[in-house]
Amino acid sequence: MPETVTFEDPTGEGAPIELEKFTLPGDVDDAELRQRKIPDPDPHYVDLGMLYRFAQVERARRSGAEGTVPLHIAVRGHMGTGKDHDIEQFAAAMGLPYFRIPLTGEVRDVTLIGSTHLHGDGKGGTESRWEDGDITRALRGPALLNLSELNAAGAETLFALHGLLDRYGALDLPNGETVALRDDVRVFGTMNPTDIRDYAGTQTLNKAFADRWVIWEKRFPADEQVKEMLATRYPSLKDEYVEAISRLTVEINASFETVDSGVRVETPLSLRSVLDRVPTGLLVYADRDDPLRHAWDEFVLPHVDAYDRDHYETVWNAVVRKGPSAKPFK
Ligand SMILES: Nc1ncnc2c1ncn2[C@@H]1O[C@H](COP(=O)(O)OP(=O)(O)OP(=O)(O)O)[C@@H](O)[C@H]1O
Ligand SMILES: [Mg+2]
Repeated sequence: MPETVTFEDPTGEGAPIELEKFTLPGDVDDAELRQRKIPDPDPHYVDLGMLYRFAQVERARRSGAEGTVPLHIAVRGHMGTGKDHDIEQFAAAMGLPYFRIPLTGEVRDVTLIGSTHLHGDGKGGTESRWEDGDITRALRGPALLNLSELNAAGAETLFALHGLLDRYGALDLPNGETVALRDDVRVFGTMNPTDIRDYAGTQTLNKAFADRWVIWEKRFPADEQVKEMLATRYPSLKDEYVEAISRLTVEINASFETVDSGVRVETPLSLRSVLDRVPTGLLVYADRDDPLRHAWDEFVLPHVDAYDRDHYETVWNAVVRKGPSAKPFK
């Protein structure tokens, strides 16, 4: 019997979804490599809803309902909202080898698709041999491909992927070979929104390319969600700190999204700041009389452009003014 995995709806509205995990066939060339590339589940991961939504699409696909074609999901959201983490954790849950392939402008399609190389033939001459690129290699066996930074991809890369992502469901290689999308391959993507702020090197997604994806928004986490993530990861962090950090997060990110440029901050507070850097700062400054303020100064503000510090200060004053004086950890 194949192993199964159960996805719960964090809102409590939908029924749990039980799915059979993927199994790795022994007959693929690089079975050992693929086995190693199945991610470990993150014990601190909190599903804010995305994993359950992925599972809904997976279930629909497996239902074999008439007329369905494989859909590919792109998650769009600001920096550090947890897009890649969601996709990686879905691979972990489903038992799929995870291949994260960034499509930034500099990668050429030879890197992604592959190219022909000349080799010595041992008799003083040369012979040409095809070498798979990153995407092609991943497609040769069970895999979850995460094409990250979709909207940074150059035009040639996009065109190379068109056929793979629509009903044709295959990649035509320049050497004449066709690599079909296997039944145990899933394609995901991530991107930053281009509408309200600039992300260097990104552009609005080419319409024909965008049309090949289901695009879902990953929003900034809400107050309760930040608290849950902090408490899961740092069970001994005191409530007053959890409270202050989550309010700062929500308020900074609300200021980032506001249309009023007079009070707007230009840098959101990423989950990397909230979950990685601030708690480390609290450890470092645990003995000071205002550990949160020190952590803020040394672990958050350096990421904020100088002209933006005033707005950060305004939010700090409105939300905490003076941080807790107790030691941060129980
Ligand atoms: N649901 C979650 N539960 C717990 N921790 C999370 C969750 N989502 C993200 N994180 C933490 O936040 C960090 C940032 O997440 P991730 O790298 O996925 O962001 P991203 O949206 O891909 O960012 P970018 O747009 O900058 O690439 C992760 O390293 C992880 O520690
Ligand atoms: Mg990312």
